[in-house]
Amino acid sequence: MGDIVPDSIEHYLAHLNRMTDPLLVDIAREGRDQDLPIVDPEVGALLRVLATAIGARRILEIGTAIGYSGIWLAGALPADGMLMTMELNPDRAATARKNFERAGLGDRANVMVGDAGLLVAKVAGPFDLVFQDGAKMLYGRMLDRLVTLLRPGGLLVTDNVLWGGEVVPGHVAARSRNADDTRAIADYNERLVSDERLRTTVLPLRDGVAVSVKVK
Ligand SMILES: C[S@@+](CC[C@H](N)C(=O)[O-])C[C@H]1O[C@@H](n2cnc3c(N)ncnc32)[C@H](O)[C@@H]1O
Repeated sequence: MGDIVPDSIEHYLAHLNRMTDPLLVDIAREGRDQDLPIVDPEVGALLRVLATAIGARRILEIGTAIGYSGIWLAGALPADGMLMTMELNPDRAATARKNFERAGLGDRANVMVGDAGLLVAKVAGPFDLVFQDGAKMLYGRMLDRLVTLLRPGGLLVTDNVLWGGEVVPGHVAARSRNADDTRAIADYNERLVSDERLRTTVLPLRDGVAVSVKVK
């Protein structure tokens, strides 16, 4: 369970989440077996709700892993919608492609293999929603480009912005996460909330999810 919200509350939220399906449960197990930091079903449900709410047709994801969060996102797309998702690790990307096929979403998901920091220069917007869940050190560097790729009214959703509470001075007695990543996320959060193109709120769900809407 999480480091932010008490376990009992997280269990309750998990109990209320009726959106998971057996395939997602299976892929989550696959992720756990490989020790992959994939989102939890509650964050998956948030992604599905946000993408549905804005009628997303084009979504960009940074950090595919094995396609778990991508399936939550692509499942909100219409038949002619598209998720473009970027993954550095070719083996994970190959597994993700298989998982999108298993979910019946193979025609709606384009898995791009490579360094997302470079690939984002090659994709064309506008996107309705961007989900940033790649390398934490790249969050800051990619911010400008990701906001440029969003349509006005589009959403930038960023995972792990509370980083186990370690971005909050004094919250944890013994830090366990990489200090450079912690600094990078703390800096990113400050940039996010002071970026005049965005209105941002941070949800203390799981590891912290920032939701930003592009206002100009
Ligand atoms: C937190 S995991 C993504 C989890 C996935 N979004 C999910 O919840 O199912 C981060 C992923 O980003 C990938 N990654 C790391 N650096 C990257 C980079 N520079 N470009 C693209 N992907 C990268 C990692 O290989 C890893 O699979």
